[in-house]
Amino acid sequence: MAIFIRYTAPLFCFFFLFSLFSHQTMSQPQHMHTFCDDKLSDNFTQTSSYKSNRETLLSSLRDRSSLGTYSNATIGLSPDTVHGMFLCRGDLTKTSCSDCVKTATLEITKNNCTYRKTAIIYYEECMVRYSNVSFFTLVEDGPYVVKYPVAFFPTSLFSSFQKTLSTKLEQLIILTSSKSSLSSSTPYYVKDKSRVNDFEGSYTLDTMVQCSPDLDPANCSACLRLAAQSVSGCCTNARWAHFYLPKCFLKYDTTGLPSSQSPSGASSINVMKGLYHS
Ligand SMILES: *[C@@H]1O[C@H](CO)[C@@H](O)[C@H](O)[C@H]1NC(C)=O
Ligand SMILES: *[C@@H]1O[C@H](CO)[C@@H](O)[C@H](O)[C@H]1NC(C)=O
Ligand SMILES: *[C@@H]1O[C@H](CO)[C@@H](O)[C@H](O)[C@H]1NC(C)=O
Ligand SMILES: *[C@@H]1O[C@H](CO)[C@@H](O)[C@H](O)[C@H]1NC(C)=O
Ligand SMILES: *[C@@H]1O[C@H](CO)[C@@H](O)[C@H](O)[C@H]1NC(C)=O
Repeated sequence: MAIFIRYTAPLFCFFFLFSLFSHQTMSQPQHMHTFCDDKLSDNFTQTSSYKSNRETLLSSLRDRSSLGTYSNATIGLSPDTVHGMFLCRGDLTKTSCSDCVKTATLEITKNNCTYRKTAIIYYEECMVRYSNVSFFTLVEDGPYVVKYPVAFFPTSLFSSFQKTLSTKLEQLIILTSSKSSLSSSTPYYVKDKSRVNDFEGSYTLDTMVQCSPDLDPANCSACLRLAAQSVSGCCTNARWAHFYLPKCFLKYDTTGLPSSQSPSGASSINVMKGLYHS
């Protein structure tokens, strides 16, 4: 028994520390959706140089994942040129960004995407995409994902919340387009925390908007307005929502509300996705 303790205690400590350590250094990114449908693009063949260019591209994005929230790359000669980028949420640590991009660049070539010329993968923390067609500087309305809980806003607050949220988003959109400098570590990123005192109750509203740095300020605003419109279309009765377009992110959360009116499955989460929104 004594021997048992003497030998297993250090072993136990080692595994305990190891799991603690690995847990801290490698956070698990939350996958939302991978797009590589027939609608997006054709397949390439197994032996194509497109495939090796894509490998080079993805590993180059992986290498740069610890340098900042955004990077782009273009690899190879026509017709096998591959364009790619990643964008991390501005409110994450460098480590979370890098962990997410590393995972995403590996996962994006799996399953249905293996021989796809174009794919886009969304995590809660980041997005990664590649394509044979250059997408830099363009605003695109899809594919998008939106994630929100089945936990409704109290109906008494609903219409005033819609107004509060859209006013706040418009303020942040205007502010964001003035923060385009690539020299800043998180360009085009603005977050806000406001206390909302409503007749029916008060709560805290956290809002975040962010554009990909390849957009010019006008297209950054255009992208975020698309996202804001979609949020008011799908889920303003949700207590929080994440809306991700290929070139911009929008996120809000509310805390301190009176208990929610959630008919069933209060903790379940919807992920809505689409190629084009309208
Ligand atoms: C692959 O595509 C098929 C058909 O479009 C779809 O049903 C399936 O869910 C996809 N698998 C993955 C892992 O995305
Ligand atoms: C493209 O590749 C996927 C699997 O990677 C396969 O299911 C699909 O049939 C292919 N499509 C065409 C048109 O070859
Ligand atoms: C991209 O691939 C598609 C599908 O194979 C092809 O029709 C298109 O011409 C390619 N575009 C470029 C710029 O290579
Ligand atoms: C803004 O996005 C639109 C739509 O994708 C594109 O046509 C336009 O060239 C972009 N503007 C700039 C300055 O790149
Ligand atoms: C691509 O990234 C480089 C930095 O690595 C940057 O200087 C350039 O503006 C980026 N291009 C686009 C279109 O985002």
